Amino acid sequence: MKLKKVLIGILNGAFLLGGTYLLAQQFPKECVIDIGGKMAPVKFLHAKHVTEYKVSCKTCHHKTKDLTKGVQKCSECHGLKEGKEGAPRAMLAFHKNCVNCHKKVNAEQQKNAPTKCNECHKKES
Ligand code: HEC
Ligand code: HEC
Ligand code: HEC
Ligand code: HEC
Repeated sequence: MKLKKVLIGILNGAFLLGGTYLLAQQFPKECVIDIGGKMAPVKFLHAKHVTEYKVSCKTCHHKTKDLTKGVQKCSECHGLKEGKEGAPRAMLAFHKNCVNCHKKVNAEQQKNAPTKCNECHKKES
């Protein structure tokens, strides 16, 4: 019985630690990604990608070393016309990140993630 209590104690501790770790990493619930250009801005459910789709921060914020200190915008390096220091320009970077994963999960996990232009670049109605 004692061992069981200790184990539960350890488990709770782990959950608490996990919780604080997530809390320490502040991130927006959702954002509108708009780098200028001719396409409509893209609404992005940030929190859902983290908690529900379980995408790790580093998959997207791939140049951020300490996530508790905030992140740089993708567009700081991936500019509309060209990228900084060997970074691909924004359209290529976003499409490689967003669209490629969507194609992958649709093919491998029978998901229905958006892959058509107007499913992401939605004109405001
Ligand atoms: C699927 C990709 C993806 C994942 C996963 C992700 N992010 Fe983001 N995050 C973005 C994008 C895109 C933006 C919009 C900022 C931009 O336009 O560059 C953003 C914005 C942010 C911002 C606000 C930046 C600003 O200045 O407006 C913070 C802070 C942040 N993310 C932290 C995190 C943390 C911490 C995690 C993990 C718990 C995480 N993100 C997971 C893609 C992602
Ligand atoms: C500090 C600058 C910087 C920031 C901020 C940054 N990137 Fe990058 N990114 C780069 C560079 C440089 C490369 C070229 C390859 C490399 O060095 O990793 C790159 C490459 C990429 C690639 C191509 C990777 C490959 O395998 O071809 C993708 C996709 C990408 N970035 C997406 C993003 C997204 C999405 C964000 C924002 C959530 C972001 N990047 C933020 C600098 C940055
Ligand atoms: C590593 C995988 C991965 C990456 C990277 C990713 N997504 Fe997703 N996305 C998903 C999954 C999984 C779903 C859910 C599909 C389903 O439930 O059928 C999804 C769903 C969506 C949806 C529709 C439902 C919702 O939650 O809003 C939008 C819009 C979306 N993603 C936008 C983006 C954008 C924009 C980016 C890049 C900044 C991005 N995603 C990057 C995996 C990813
Ligand atoms: C999974 C979501 C997603 C899909 C699908 C998608 N894009 Fe994008 N695209 C983005 C994101 C995010 C950006 C960066 C934010 C912005 O400015 O729209 C972007 C940027 C762009 C840009 C550069 C910025 C601009 O406004 O000129 C062009 C051009 C573009 N996309 C065209 C397309 C076309 C054409 C298609 C269909 C073949 C498409 N996209 C499909 C997410 C997507």
